[in-house]
Amino acid sequence: MEFTIVGAGQVGRSLESALTTLGHRVRLARRAPEAGNEVALAGSAQGCDAVILATPFVATGEIVPQLGIGQGQLVIDATNPFGRAWPAGFSPSDFSSGGEFVQSLIPQAHVVKCFNVIGYEHMDRPQFAGVAPFMPVCGNDAEAKGSVLELATSMGFDAHDIGDLSKAALVENMGLLWGALRDVKGNREFAFGLLHR
Ligand SMILES: NC(=O)c1ccc[n+]([C@@H]2O[C@H](COP(=O)([O-])OP(=O)(O)OC[C@H]3O[C@@H](n4cnc5c(N)ncnc54)[C@H](OP(=O)(O)O)[C@@H]3O)[C@@H](O)[C@H]2O)c1
Repeated sequence: MEFTIVGAGQVGRSLESALTTLGHRVRLARRAPEAGNEVALAGSAQGCDAVILATPFVATGEIVPQLGIGQGQLVIDATNPFGRAWPAGFSPSDFSSGGEFVQSLIPQAHVVKCFNVIGYEHMDRPQFAGVAPFMPVCGNDAEAKGSVLELATSMGFDAHDIGDLSKAALVENMGLLWGALRDVKGNREFAFGLLHR
């Protein structure tokens, strides 16, 4: 697949590494692109199979409308909004989740929430003593969500469909839970797992 990753920070670089290792083509959309696979934000969604949002949540309101996201395009939202500033003019009381806020900016697209419940450093090496980390996935379009479930599984996650985008608040709160655990444990070397029998 061909991906546009928006944001060349910790998450963007880790996902770039994971996806290129799997043979996908990745372009990084940045404010000030450098040589290689980096492109400007404006129009960067055009011609790719999926866009991944890996920018600070506060910037989504200004970034997303610039990307040129098309009808039916897949947008994977890895941002975490809770406990952080919201884009100017919007507040958490207007939306139940950041994922639904992003979907409201691009109603023509299929937004799928994924990758926000684990530290960036584990995204390109999700192995924990042979156990795959739990990766909840939610979105309104079944085909788009299916693609993301397949992608996350191929990256080494234990990916599960948890429902439509109204469930995004749950996974965004899991992001907060991950951060609370990190603060108490004093390290980032863990992930959530799902037990089965
Ligand atoms: N860190 C984690 O472990 C983790 C885990 C899961 C989810 N998340 C979420 O993933 C997102 C990215 O986190 P991160 O840790 O990768 O952050 P980061 O290291 O600060 O990187 C964010 C990138 O976004 C770009 N950016 C910043 N402000 C921007 C603006 N106003 N307009 C356009 N681009 C802007 C910057 O790239 P350029 O300077 O190249 O433009 C920056 O490198 C956040 O929403 C975070 O909550 C983080």
